[in-house]
Amino acid sequence: QVAAASGHTVVLVDQSDEILKKSTKGIEESLKRVTKKKFADKPEAGAEFIKKTLKNLTTSTDAASVVHSTDLVIEAIVENLEVKNELFKTLDKFAPEHTIFASNTSSLQITKMANATTRQDRFGGLHFFNPVPMMKLVEVIKTPMTSQKTFESLVDFSKAVGKSPVSCKDTPGFIVNRLLVPYMMEAVRLFERGDASKEDIDVAMKLGAGYPMGPFELLDYVGLDTSKYIIDGWHALEPNNPLFAPSPLLNKLVEEKKLGKKTGEGFYKYK
Ligand code: 3HC
Repeated sequence: QVAAASGHTVVLVDQSDEILKKSTKGIEESLKRVTKKKFADKPEAGAEFIKKTLKNLTTSTDAASVVHSTDLVIEAIVENLEVKNELFKTLDKFAPEHTIFASNTSSLQITKMANATTRQDRFGGLHFFNPVPMMKLVEVIKTPMTSQKTFESLVDFSKAVGKSPVSCKDTPGFIVNRLLVPYMMEAVRLFERGDASKEDIDVAMKLGAGYPMGPFELLDYVGLDTSKYIIDGWHALEPNNPLFAPSPLLNKLVEEKKLGKKTGEGFYKYK
């Protein structure tokens, strides 16, 4: 959405037409929200902006057949290294020499994905934040093999889509998640110990620290499965780090398929 809205030609790839239809509908809804604000006094210009953006966006279920005319691939599939590597390996065969590959992973090592391809120097991380149309940040991740030219292209692309890039080495959680995930897990532990209610913890962090959402609201927004996936991965890397300790409550909610806003219930219930 943000790439198409800033004039880039985008092919959105997913596994089925059904998912792509849902994604396109989500983009249209989100564009309407953005446009309402951006073109508050000029509804006609807003309608034109939506039309132009959607014209820049096509969809496909066949990544290999569209990658031959792509300058930049941004992967945002399931957080499973084997599945990601399989995709990158395939794309590597069909993509032109100059094409840069980037992953939007929250928690996996970019280096491991780059090593699945023959273009380690043209591989980096581009980590966006929910909701992407609103959040101004992009973390640009440079592995030891990422070339300076690739890094600069990723920084330029981030700026071209209207974001503010920061750079970080390929370390677990990069900058934001390395700080945010332990903070959210500490909130869950505070609640698990019965020290405060989740409602009060959320109010406290909003009114006492100026956060737009409390940690439980944010966990539900990000998805409890995503949060669990991140913490489990880090716990496996550093089992003795108390900040990365798994939470029985989080595990239970995920087991019950209460994954947050997207399933209608997480720590809170949603209509
Ligand atoms: N698309 C377009 N616009 C959107 C949107 C979307 N998906 N979601 C919200 N907006 C817009 C709304 O239209 C609204 O615009 P307005 O000011 O013109 O009315 C504006 O954002 C504010 O939205 P709301 O009034 O509905 O609600 P809030 O004022 O609470 O703002 C929020 C919503 C921007 C999500 C804000 O609560 C927020 O910043 N929350 C924190 C988000 C955060 O921390 N994200 C990072 C998560 S971590 C992550 O993503 C990393 C990953 O690896 C796990």
